[in-house]
Amino acid sequence: MPGAHILGIESSCDETAAAVVRSGEQLLSNVVASQIATHQPYGGVVPELASREHLRAIVPVVRQALAEASHSYDSIDAIAVTQGPGLAGALLVGISYAKAMAFALDKPLIAVNHLEGHIHAVLLEKRQKGDHEVRFPVLALVVSGGHTHLYLAALQGDSWTYENIGHTRDDAAGEAFDKVAKLLGLGYPGGPVIDRLSTHGDPRAVKFPPAQIKHRDRRGRNDGKDIAQGHDIRFDFSYSGIKTAILRYVEAHGMRGSVEERRKDLSAIAKPRLEDYLAHCDKVTLDLVASFQRAIVDDLVGKTLAAAQACNVATLFVTGGVAANQELRQSFERAGAELGLPVYFPSRPLSTDNAAMIAAAAYPKFLARDFAPLDFSAEASLLLR
Ligand code: KG4
Ligand code: ZN
Repeated sequence: MPGAHILGIESSCDETAAAVVRSGEQLLSNVVASQIATHQPYGGVVPELASREHLRAIVPVVRQALAEASHSYDSIDAIAVTQGPGLAGALLVGISYAKAMAFALDKPLIAVNHLEGHIHAVLLEKRQKGDHEVRFPVLALVVSGGHTHLYLAALQGDSWTYENIGHTRDDAAGEAFDKVAKLLGLGYPGGPVIDRLSTHGDPRAVKFPPAQIKHRDRRGRNDGKDIAQGHDIRFDFSYSGIKTAILRYVEAHGMRGSVEERRKDLSAIAKPRLEDYLAHCDKVTLDLVASFQRAIVDDLVGKTLAAAQACNVATLFVTGGVAANQELRQSFERAGAELGLPVYFPSRPLSTDNAAMIAAAAYPKFLARDFAPLDFSAEASLLLR
């Protein structure tokens, strides 16, 4: 099959992933080994355990991705790997393996920013459907366990360039989902559980005062010039206040005992189903969960659309683990339709961490021969530009 067949490797957090993608537009395989079971007892990702699990999984995961794509080590054209941002020890496992492969096979090595990967997950699936047109400027909201970032993207030659116009000042949105689920005894990761439980509660039951999710921040970075003219306005987020508000709510409503009981009961079930969660949640808890999700979704959609209008963008991408959220997708779709702004998401499997997005983001770099030297290293706080 003609085209460039790139093997992507991703190990920045708690998923060991490998995928083969042809020319940034055709997914040939996509293997993800999740470590959720390892981290579940701790209610969050334990970095050392993550590195150890990546070491265990990387060889079989890469082999499976090659086999499912009907490829061998020799038949791929390049190896792409996440350089950062992420957990340094976890990143190093993928990077060391990718380097060893590139060296042994004498293939080009491509370093990819994880956040650019999330953006290219959208592009990969658009192209796969035969839709190659992208109208610029693009605004991309990358919303995950580690990030709530707004990027204005433009095209320079074949390469995408990015300007960050907003990010979270404290917790990321996914982190807020995870922490709130933990403090309500709902286990880890919190996003998928809260997503499913929210439809069973009243989203208007609990009000969170605006101070708990700071309003749109339009401070200028320098002199407050208008972003629509070339520019300097920020659209920052903040989600640590709402987490504290929920903690106070739990204390004020005497919910500690029932939270502990739920934690104990649910942790005794290997894979709790929706009915198990529902059987362990009273109306107050379901209303609290639904109200929390509504507050986060309203804030993400409100600020992102304010930024889209201020920057006069032509297209909106919403990507990252939290983009899997049902209510978030529906709200963005509704609001986008009202404004006449096309909104694109990855499918659910490509919203959360995967390696197909890394292989897709590597393709323009492959064309530009933008290869990484064998001595490049992990960058835990790598910026996207
Ligand atoms: O992109 P991702 O897999 O990893 C990072 O780069 O962080 O995102 C994981 C995050 C977790 O915080 C998880 O709770 C959240 O995405 N998440 C969700 C949903 N599925 C995953 N949050 C809300 N609703 C979901 N359906
Ligand atoms: Zn991610």
